[in-house]
Amino acid sequence: MDRLRITGGRRLEGDVAISGAKNAALPIMAATLLAPGVHRLRNVPRLRDTQTFARVLELLGARLSFEGNEMTIDTSQVASVEAPYELVKTMRASIYVLAPLLARFGEARVSLPGGCAWGPRPVNLHLAGLQAMGAKLDIEHGYIVGRGVKLRGATFSFDVVSVGATAQLMLAAVLAEGTAVLENVAIEPDVTALGEALNDCGARIEGLGTRRLTIRGVSALRPIDATIIPDRIEAATFAAAAAMTGGRIRLRGVVPEHFEASLHKLEEAGCAVERGAETVAVAGPPRPAPVNVATQPYPGFPTDMQAQMIAVCALASGTSVIEDTIYLDRFTHVPELARMGARIELRGNVAVVKGVPRLSGAQVMATDLRASASLVIAALAAEGETVIDRIYHLDRGYEALEKKLAALGARVERLS
Ligand code: UD1
Repeated sequence: MDRLRITGGRRLEGDVAISGAKNAALPIMAATLLAPGVHRLRNVPRLRDTQTFARVLELLGARLSFEGNEMTIDTSQVASVEAPYELVKTMRASIYVLAPLLARFGEARVSLPGGCAWGPRPVNLHLAGLQAMGAKLDIEHGYIVGRGVKLRGATFSFDVVSVGATAQLMLAAVLAEGTAVLENVAIEPDVTALGEALNDCGARIEGLGTRRLTIRGVSALRPIDATIIPDRIEAATFAAAAAMTGGRIRLRGVVPEHFEASLHKLEEAGCAVERGAETVAVAGPPRPAPVNVATQPYPGFPTDMQAQMIAVCALASGTSVIEDTIYLDRFTHVPELARMGARIELRGNVAVVKGVPRLSGAQVMATDLRASASLVIAALAAEGETVIDRIYHLDRGYEALEKKLAALGARVERLS
């Protein structure tokens, strides 16, 4: 299993090109199932998750090529409707194939994803929304099974804002009969990007970027030709690395407003931030100031940046309070950061972080994607050597991470 060795203490300086967003790519890849034909997606990040999703599509019968960052997906020959447990358990987002399969074939057999490293992560809203649209679904042997389904537009109001369930119901509604009205939807840029990709190929979704979507079903869609939006979480993670190392990093190819909440917090922590049209320059302070953060759905501070922000606050000149209101158990990085000398007290879903002047390198273990990212940026700032075990989590979500860090001056090495 690969490990990452980082020798900390260098300021990161230079330019870094931000990759396409994993969380935007995955639902758009699922959307290719809706229209038989040859789809072209550009700026797709080369990650374990996009490769796993490609595998799911291939198992269903799609033909795929993935060269550089361009993915061509031919969904004309799709014949199977089953997404097996072996793949879904490694990546929850595989559940995105459910609605497209029901829409195209009236049938699906998709494994329930099960829990994950930080709690139960239910899919009840995905199921309730599809049922409201006329899908009779059964749970059989760990699988969600639909047969003879004819989707109809309906009004559905989410009692919790969910990125995944919003995307799922959009995928269900675009080809359904009649009009669907979705209330209290997620407005993450990834959701809007999915909507725009669908509208570009003939869907009729109104209200993108607002909490209410009106979707008029159409009888068919053209193949998708889309460019994946930049990854706001990757961008914000590099910005956090600048904050922690007192570095100066220019993020290239970004949409600054997509990670405004993170930039704003980093400014509060003492960073100087310059926003351009497609660039953001972040200069870290000599030592971060403490900040208080509560994660919220977009446009609030993302839960996917909570772990990295705790790492920044671990070095702050005072006490920070960081609350995760989205995932109450998402704190597996805390004991690992403690091994590096961080002083963090967990009270339920609230981390009280008492800043220390320095962290020290240690052997630590990654337990999920963003937790791993927080260990990496902590290691970059720590004294001495850190070895991070189980970095396959990082490979799920950060394209060419060590290369990008090395180009910014970090001493980082992958140990196989
Ligand atoms: C997506 C992102 C993930 C991010 C999360 C929150 C992808 C592939 N993943 O995950 O990186 O951390 O959004 O921004 O885009 N919930 C329910 N019932 C459901 C679905 C969700 O109660 O059926 C709850 C969840 O437990 C959580 C909240 O809704 O408390 C938000 O989860 P959701 O937005 O659905 O997360 P994902 O789409 O799984």
